[in-house]
Amino acid sequence: MRVVNLQLENFGSYEKLEFSFDRGLILIQGPTGAGKSTLCDAIPWILFGKTAKGGAVDEVRSWAATEPTKGIVWLQDITVSRTRGAAKDNDLVFWPTGGEPTRGKDMADTQRLLNQRLGFDLSLYLAGAYYHEFSQTAQFFTASANVRRMICEQLVDLSLATKLTARLKDELRSLKKQQAESAENIAKHKTEVETCRRLEEEAKRNSKDWERLYTAEIKELTAKSKNFDAAKRSAIKKLQHESDAWADARKEEVKELNQAIATARADIRPDDELLYEERRLAEAKLLAGELTCPTCGGPAHPEERERLVRWEIQLDTKRRLSQQRTADVEKIERQLKQALSQINPFATRVTAEEARENTYDEQIASLKRQTNPHRARTAGYRANRLDASMELADAEASLVKIEGIVADYDVLSDITASYRSASIQYTIEAIQARTNALLAGYFDGEMRVEFSADDTNLDVSITKDGNEATYTQLSKGQRCMLKLCFGLSVMKTVAERHAVKFEQVFLDEALDGLDEAFKTKAYRMLEALALEHESVYVVEHSEGLKALFENKLTAELVDGRSQLCRS
Ligand SMILES: Nc1ncnc2c1ncn2[C@@H]1O[C@H](COP(=O)(O)OP(=O)(O)OP(=O)(O)O)[C@@H](O)[C@H]1O
Ligand SMILES: [Mg+2]
Repeated sequence: MRVVNLQLENFGSYEKLEFSFDRGLILIQGPTGAGKSTLCDAIPWILFGKTAKGGAVDEVRSWAATEPTKGIVWLQDITVSRTRGAAKDNDLVFWPTGGEPTRGKDMADTQRLLNQRLGFDLSLYLAGAYYHEFSQTAQFFTASANVRRMICEQLVDLSLATKLTARLKDELRSLKKQQAESAENIAKHKTEVETCRRLEEEAKRNSKDWERLYTAEIKELTAKSKNFDAAKRSAIKKLQHESDAWADARKEEVKELNQAIATARADIRPDDELLYEERRLAEAKLLAGELTCPTCGGPAHPEERERLVRWEIQLDTKRRLSQQRTADVEKIERQLKQALSQINPFATRVTAEEARENTYDEQIASLKRQTNPHRARTAGYRANRLDASMELADAEASLVKIEGIVADYDVLSDITASYRSASIQYTIEAIQARTNALLAGYFDGEMRVEFSADDTNLDVSITKDGNEATYTQLSKGQRCMLKLCFGLSVMKTVAERHAVKFEQVFLDEALDGLDEAFKTKAYRMLEALALEHESVYVVEHSEGLKALFENKLTAELVDGRSQLCRS
């Protein structure tokens, strides 16, 4: 990335600044609070909305200004403009040289699009182009082992591994879903196969039962048809016999009733006969009553009187019997009438039997027209079972296939993870080698570092003159030396690993803590750095070091506002 120009308005201590980037090693000097570091903040703020020290987007809005803060940076092939003020003024826009401006659906989206277009984010920019005592690389040696590992991971170009991991994760998620669906399908088809098999068995049993009943029925009807005439004759004969027996029984009954009537009638005396006898008895009684015994003066002829009493009793008995028999005759005559009115039930049955036709052949023909309904059902269930079995086989085959792919993807995931680890390891080794090379090349190699990393941690071991030393055992100047060599190694590694070289590099008071002699040594290193970048801006207070720089920028406050001038 090459920065060509910069324009600022109401940016921190700067009211207005137009700045073109020079080439070479350039000193930024000036008194405390003059605006040196503010200049270093301009690029990260315009590109990412943060200062180099991680300050929030509105931290650079000039305290005194009423107008919005604005920054425009012209890169080699793209221009970016950021404005902060009242909510309505806030804006971020970028456009390629001679092209149309791009804004996302909101600021965050524009930022995402810009990062995409640039090909790096804030942390990569700062690691590759900026160094001061609070920057992440400078904090590396005091950070915890896992934060150190994270810092290194940010420096590695893991885009392929990240892309692969994300794709594999997505694919595996989709495959796991398909796997679950296949397993569900298999269970469903197994149930279907089993259900169809049970129904098929049941239909087969029903079919057999139906055939058995059908055959038996045909057999029975055929036999009935064959025996029809003989059976009919025999039935008629039997019914005729019963009819005759019934008629005989009725005849006998009528005869008996007639006899009973005759017998009863024999005891019935006509009324005039009984009346005549009554009259004769009365006359006899009258005659016998006038006879008186001349001796005793009592009734004469007692035998006669006795005969008359008996006669009266007999007459009374005759009358009663006659009445009784008359009632009997009436009753028996009713019975007789009823008996005579009865119709012989067997006679109609005989007629019906005589008229009965042989319908068994028709029934047989009708039966023969029937088909076994269970056969079609059996065939239907069999077809369903076969379909379900095919689907089951397909689902099982698809599951095997998915499991195969999942296994392949698992292998690919392991390879990706190994590739990721190897990339990180390779980067760590490169940074280690560069740091030691800088320490050896510019600071007599009195210190060396060794990094060892696992999946989560990165440990550092330091040797000073061959002695193992902790970071805190090092002097302030030694720590400064170590951090600076590490920071510059990181810059180079970022350029190498990410194919994004930041041509403008800023070192803000990077040599603070070194004595004049070491500052001079460091200057040689900066000279070498300037050969690798278009411009290296160094903020420095040391008068001794300042004298070494040919190109100088001076920041100063005029009426409380920062101004820059080349000297
Ligand atoms: N939002 C702001 N508006 C106006 N001035 C600000 C704002 N934020 C910081 N300043 C001031 O801007 C000035 C420049 O700060 P800067 O950090 O650039 O100084 P410097 O030249 O780097 O000083 P030093 O050598 O001490 O690091 C300081 O006086 C600071 O207090
Ligand atoms: Mg400063």
